[in-house]
Amino acid sequence: MAQLTMKTIAIVPAAGTGERMGNNRKKPYLLLNERPLLYYTLTALASTPSIAQIIVAVAPGDEEFCQQQVLEKFHFKKNIQIIAGGSSRQESVSRLLERVPDEAHLVLVHDGARPLITSELLEQAIAETRVWKATVLAVPVKDTIKAANDALQIEKTISRERLWAIQTPQTFERSIIGEAHQRARQQGFIGTDDAALVERMGVQVKIVMGSYDNIKVTTPEDLIVAEALLKKRRNNRRDR
Ligand code: C5P
Repeated sequence: MAQLTMKTIAIVPAAGTGERMGNNRKKPYLLLNERPLLYYTLTALASTPSIAQIIVAVAPGDEEFCQQQVLEKFHFKKNIQIIAGGSSRQESVSRLLERVPDEAHLVLVHDGARPLITSELLEQAIAETRVWKATVLAVPVKDTIKAANDALQIEKTISRERLWAIQTPQTFERSIIGEAHQRARQQGFIGTDDAALVERMGVQVKIVMGSYDNIKVTTPEDLIVAEALLKKRRNNRRDR
């Protein structure tokens, strides 16, 4: 029973158009070292013992393509379900939340576009969420960040010491993320991540140290970096 109440479901928004990539093939299916980007994301999630089930949202109409090109071509250790996403990331996550089974205790949201996530970080995120109820992976900001006006004149320099670049996974108790999305929908609020929806309910979100490797593949140069990082990882495994 305890096992059942602590069940974690991973939901994966992967329904973006990937316009910034400038490629005909949609982002989840772009090849990284000869395998689709989404393969790496799903492999990390499926290899994480604490994750019971995985649900992926793909662009409407791509469900069959994803099934054939990713799920049937490669072996994954877990049951993976595909659904049609929405017109925004938030809408895709809302649709995914509707499919989360009632007995789930935690919901882990991870962007399909972050293929370098590791099982170790996923397990850490889940363990911390059991304590804190709402967590995000993040890394300290490396660059100096300034705010500018429309004419590109700098208005102020923001102290870097307290700035964090927020990543996924973002993990929440099911009731918290469910209510956050419901309220955002009712109030017409659009956030750039799920934590923003939770924060505005007054719920404290805790940062878990992420990794600079856990990049979001957005533009063509990110693909080169992701391939290099995956190769480095593969070579490290061989050397062991
Ligand atoms: O656009 P952005 O880089 O923020 O997308 C982050 C993630 O959200 C990506 O994995 C993308 O596929 C997903 N997304 C989605 N549905 C949309 C838009 C983006 O699932 N309509």
